[in-house]
Amino acid sequence: MHPERRSQAWFGGTEKIAFARRSGMKAQGVPHRMFDGRPVIGICNTWSELTPCNAHLRELAEAVKRGVYEAGGYPVEFPVMSLGETLMRPTTMLYRNLASMDVEESIRANPLDGVVLLGGCDKTTPALVMGAASADLPTVVVSGGPTLTGRYRGQPLASGTAVYRMSDEVRAGRMSEEEFVRAESCMWRANGHCNTMGTASSMAVLMEVLGLALPGNAAIPAVDARRRVLAQDSGRQAVELVRSGTRLSDVLTPEAFRNAVVALAATGGSTNAVLHLIAIAGRVGVPFGLDDIDRAARGVPLLVDLQPAGKHLMEDFFEAGGVPVLLHELRELLDVEAVTVTGCLGDHLPAQREWYDPVIRRRDDPLKKGAGLAVLRGNLAPSGAVIKPAAASEHLLRHEGPALVFEDREDLHRRIDDPDLPVSEDSVLVLRNSGPQGYPGMPEIGNLPIPAKLLRRGVSDMVRISDARMSGTAFGTVVLHVAPESAAGGPLSLVRDGDRIALDVDRRRLDLIVDDAELAVRAAGAAPPGDAPRSGYGFLHHQHVLQADRGADLDFLVGRRPAGIPRESH
Ligand code: FES
Repeated sequence: MHPERRSQAWFGGTEKIAFARRSGMKAQGVPHRMFDGRPVIGICNTWSELTPCNAHLRELAEAVKRGVYEAGGYPVEFPVMSLGETLMRPTTMLYRNLASMDVEESIRANPLDGVVLLGGCDKTTPALVMGAASADLPTVVVSGGPTLTGRYRGQPLASGTAVYRMSDEVRAGRMSEEEFVRAESCMWRANGHCNTMGTASSMAVLMEVLGLALPGNAAIPAVDARRRVLAQDSGRQAVELVRSGTRLSDVLTPEAFRNAVVALAATGGSTNAVLHLIAIAGRVGVPFGLDDIDRAARGVPLLVDLQPAGKHLMEDFFEAGGVPVLLHELRELLDVEAVTVTGCLGDHLPAQREWYDPVIRRRDDPLKKGAGLAVLRGNLAPSGAVIKPAAASEHLLRHEGPALVFEDREDLHRRIDDPDLPVSEDSVLVLRNSGPQGYPGMPEIGNLPIPAKLLRRGVSDMVRISDARMSGTAFGTVVLHVAPESAAGGPLSLVRDGDRIALDVDRRRLDLIVDDAELAVRAAGAAPPGDAPRSGYGFLHHQHVLQADRGADLDFLVGRRPAGIPRESH
């Protein structure tokens, strides 16, 4: 008996309710000894056939269970809301916070002492960690792993990134639609999440660097047998964490978040991770915002040569040694004493590289110097905006040009390929009404397509600005997450066609070159906001969603509410 175990408040003792609870579990063939006070580990699973990237997570859960049993615990797997990036409309980001509530309350309401979180596809990882962080039990993350490298006509085909390139080829008349469809069958060969350094891979890397996952978590391919070994080891480790009393808030420290940003910048990782890191920090009460991110990322070289910033894919990153080798290169920029689920970050770093694979470059020979992530401010983004210079065109990082404004996604799609569109390669494309409140849910449409007439002239990049997000697999000189958003009355709502906009990434500036008096006149004459949802989850989201600089969490979910023992139901 371990009366101090949380699970014993459900399963311990001789009262009739304990009898009923044990009896109910025994209906699944569970032996009586599982209720003797051993750690009960919940395996929180985002498996779903509607989330193809996570479709193998039930098999991975079996490996976690083996590890839990091996260490003397009792594993119980349970489902939570899953968020399939390719299928959900209007965007998975609308539901990230809802899924996090499911995770938090499922943990709190059940007889769990510790948790293993199984996620993979983009938003499933932050939703799991946000919910678990609020509940704050001992927690280990196991990522589903990247899919294998697909090939078309002998060339590697990156999941996600290839779609953007090939759809531009079709629009420019250089690829037929038949070829496009043929290529789509080659892209995703097996289970697993996108294999570029998109949002899913970035979040898997961050799980390892934050110290929430075991070394190796980010890069082992989903279908590689070694991922099942990692899952089994993670199950064992969850039991050890319960025994040592190490909670998630012991791991998610300010140092951990700074380390995460350094790694994110060095991998050329997804801008979406900025939102998720801020939201996760908010859940554990760590003060961590855009300025902390800019500071931590500043000067960090791009070391990982993966698409979309570089050439390779996650399988190549795995072969090159994955996160442990990357962290070895970054050692001097990291706090290696940061606590992790296995000890501290420095424990598993190789003393030297056993072989050199240029997919992970040396610090003195980076892919790009100081490419990192940049946070911009100015009168167009008073609360901040984000750009990933690693995925941008060097010549556009300092640019001034006339605005061409699209009111929303539908306006964009109606006009972008119009042969009479008044656009040149100097134009700055502006998209509004695509923020957390306005869309709603901040979709990944910030990398506006290049107008077809410019594509045909060989233009491949332009400055684009919006309050939307961008897929982590996308690329271009794209300013995202402008806050406050246009639907909340932010300055993006005041831009007119032809206004000059100045971007200067070195100086971290984003400015609308229109004087304040004129902007005040425009603001006074602005149309009132459009219709807002009046019921259902859409209403809750609209009423409570925070702006991008606060991670777009719901205001009432910020903070920790450690999972105590809820009131008895009988
Ligand atoms: Fe699931 Fe890209 S679609 S990770």
